[in-house]
Amino acid sequence: MLKLAVLISGGGSNLKALIEATKEPDFPAEVVCVGADTAAPGLAHAAAAQIPSFVVRPADFATRADWGEALAAAIRDHDVDLVVSAGLMRILPAGFVGEFSPRLINTHPALLPLFPGAHAVRDALAAGATETGVTVHIIDEGVDTGPVLRQAVVAVREGEAEDELHERIKQEERPLLIDTVRAIADGTLDLAAVAAAHH
Ligand code: GRF
Repeated sequence: MLKLAVLISGGGSNLKALIEATKEPDFPAEVVCVGADTAAPGLAHAAAAQIPSFVVRPADFATRADWGEALAAAIRDHDVDLVVSAGLMRILPAGFVGEFSPRLINTHPALLPLFPGAHAVRDALAAGATETGVTVHIIDEGVDTGPVLRQAVVAVREGEAEDELHERIKQEERPLLIDTVRAIADGTLDLAAVAAAHH
């Protein structure tokens, strides 16, 4: 059974979907802890499932590196096999990435390498993209630059608002993340091999 840490900042709908998936018989992974950088509403999904959680706030540390070290220490306590950033709206410091990557993945609401960064949905609309989507990728030292594992395409509707489009992307994002985690857990997807091929 692959042990997952999930990191969030917001509502945690991806976290909720992942927790539900792990309850299916035969799902080869389990969420053993949930971390956040703020009092994220999504922590309620961890509490409801009796999964331990922790909040590690950047403002409580002198440097980003110190924050990353504290976050890593909290995860280490849970003996985790894979760290899933699912709506964590922070760039993870190099020390953290060095410790966990390639067993560190992120879900991003655009078709990387298009529209990296914190405003991917807004940026796709502003660019007049007719399609966008979602990417699950390994986190490396860059911002949304790591090797792509899975993608799903979403067509942009005429005149669509950012929140509407983001919601439709998230409908694709949740099953894509679950499928990716399943593939990693059952050995179909070899993160070390993907990372090695990328370099
Ligand atoms: C997701 O679309 C994620 O890719 C993005 O923020 C959203 C988080 O949604 N970075 P939720 O908190 O899982 O509902």
